[in-house]
This record gives sequence, structure tokens and C-alpha cells, in this order.
Amino acid sequence: MHEPISALPMGVFIDGLTGAVNPASGHYVKRLSELREIYQDKAAFDHAVRERDDPVTYEVVEYRPENSDIYFGTTTMYPGDIGGEFHMTRGHFHARRDMGEVYYTQSGTGILLLESRNGETRTVEMKPGVCAFIPPDWAHRSINTGTEPLVFVWVCNPLAGHDYGEILKRGMRKRVMKIEGGVKMIDNIAYV
Ligand SMILES: [Fe+2]
Repeated sequence: MHEPISALPMGVFIDGLTGAVNPASGHYVKRLSELREIYQDKAAFDHAVRERDDPVTYEVVEYRPENSDIYFGTTTMYPGDIGGEFHMTRGHFHARRDMGEVYYTQSGTGILLLESRNGETRTVEMKPGVCAFIPPDWAHRSINTGTEPLVFVWVCNPLAGHDYGEILKRGMRKRVMKIEGGVKMIDNIAYV
């Protein structure tokens, strides 16, 4: 699903409401059923996969020129929660510990949850106009806390890579929940 794109100058159209990228070099979707490890309430999760027909919870479109130290794209996250826990991405460290990233929110609202290697938690509000700086070696996960799609542009070095394993195995220390209609961050009791 990856088309080679030359590293010539280019203006790429990005639709800040849908996350469409044109031209694009690749695209993937994440269905709920692929994300069982990350949610706390497995019964609510199984129920949601069945009753909601295994929805796409987020998708990623990229523009990756060949032989470049920069690539970018969009992530579009659909709203919803699983047993009160808002839709979220898997979360990852970069394989390269010296490479950070930028997330520039286009529409919707959410929380960017970050965790350092020594366990410090930080958050950055995601809303249109906020460009989040993700420092090297901080795990990052985005969470749609609103009722509309959360669309953001990310910019990264393609050599940064993704280390999903660490977060899938241990989880992150905090969870972001819908509690009494509000958004609350709580300790992750399953964190190991
Ligand atoms: Fe990243």
C-alpha cells in the first residue's frame, strides 16, 4: 500500500476536516478489533466489536518522499469510547531515541498523552491551532476526547521508526476516561 514518491518540491493538499492527503504514498486503517490489548475493559471491548460491527477507530495517510529526512501525513481518529475509555492510538516510542515529532491539530479535540522513559507523564491539549512538540524518547498516544473526528498532521523523520511493543506490553501509566460527562485522567491499574 506504499507508492514511491520522488523527493521533488511539492505542495500537498491536506483536508483538515477529513484528513485526506493528496497526493499520498500510503494509507492504513485501524479497526477496533486490532486494539484489544490497549483498552482496560475487555468485556466492553468485545461487546463494542460485536455490536458496532468492528468500526475503524483511526486511520493514517502519509506522504513519504524517497531519500528524504522528512515525511508527514495525517491521523484521523473517530470519536467514541470503550467502557468509558476514549478511542486512542496504540501509542509508541520511536525506535530511534534521538528523534522527536510534531503533531499539528487541524480539527476536533483530544489529549496527547506522553510518557518519558523514566515514567514521567505529560499531556498536551489537542485542538485546532496547537502544534505539539514531542521530544525524542517520549512515548506518545493520541486520544479523541470530543464528539467529532480528531484530525492532526504529523511530521517526522522516516528513520525514527515505531516501537509499539513496549507500550503494548506494559501499557501507559495513565488512562483518559469519560467520567460523569467530563474528561478525567486516572491511574492505569493494569500498568506493569
Ligand atoms: Fe511517533
